[in-house]
Amino acid sequence: MARPILVAGNWKMYMTVAEGRRFVTELEKAGPPPASVRVVLFAPYTALHALQGLSGFVQLGAQNLHPEPQGAFTGEISAPMLAELVPWVLVGHSERREIFGESDELVCRKLHAALAHGLQPVLCVGETLPEREGGRTTTKLRTQLDAGLAGMEASAVSRLVIAYEPIWAIGTGRNATPGQAQEAHHFIKEQLRGRYGLAVPVLYGGSVKPDNCAALLAQPDVDGLLVGGASLKADSFSAIISHSVTASR
Ligand code: PGA
Repeated sequence: MARPILVAGNWKMYMTVAEGRRFVTELEKAGPPPASVRVVLFAPYTALHALQGLSGFVQLGAQNLHPEPQGAFTGEISAPMLAELVPWVLVGHSERREIFGESDELVCRKLHAALAHGLQPVLCVGETLPEREGGRTTTKLRTQLDAGLAGMEASAVSRLVIAYEPIWAIGTGRNATPGQAQEAHHFIKEQLRGRYGLAVPVLYGGSVKPDNCAALLAQPDVDGLLVGGASLKADSFSAIISHSVTASR
């Protein structure tokens, strides 16, 4: 049976509407992957509406949301607003946590809001370099899962996707080794299995490129990829999708 793989691109603050349209049109040329490989693009808010319907296989997601459904929060976007447009949303990306000061408690509120409005959240977790070198990777992951999933029933957790993104690997060109990724993914899955009795898909993110993705996907607990830099060029993202198709067989 084909193994399901999720390949997601995180465009961050890149891609105007025109650039995004060109990218998706280019990606379409390669044709749709088999159903076992799902492709999601986390595009800037400004491009979400414009990219709708351009592709028969690319699903769209937002990169962030506000936890309240509406209110006087100038410049923010809420879950019900997104739910009209896209099925997916990233929650707790390390850039949100590190640059914009998002706490685990805020991440948890955002997750609850996303689920309450029918969005499919991808919760990002991961350790810093000092935490890894100090042997505190699993403690950090456990803390982020504990706090991020506070108050959540198993039925809600079963709708999540987790992305393991070691902060030292994001945008640095230094990816986790397949062994390091496998170890962290296994730990995350064990935590969720132990607490909720379920298997949640775990994506790897951090300097994923066409030349390292196959080895990462060869790990039994790597269920997909969250790709930053290499998702900004249609040829490199297409190459990663092709490797994912091979890995899903
Ligand atoms: P990167 O980013 O692939 O450029 O390291 C990954 C991410 O931030 O999701």
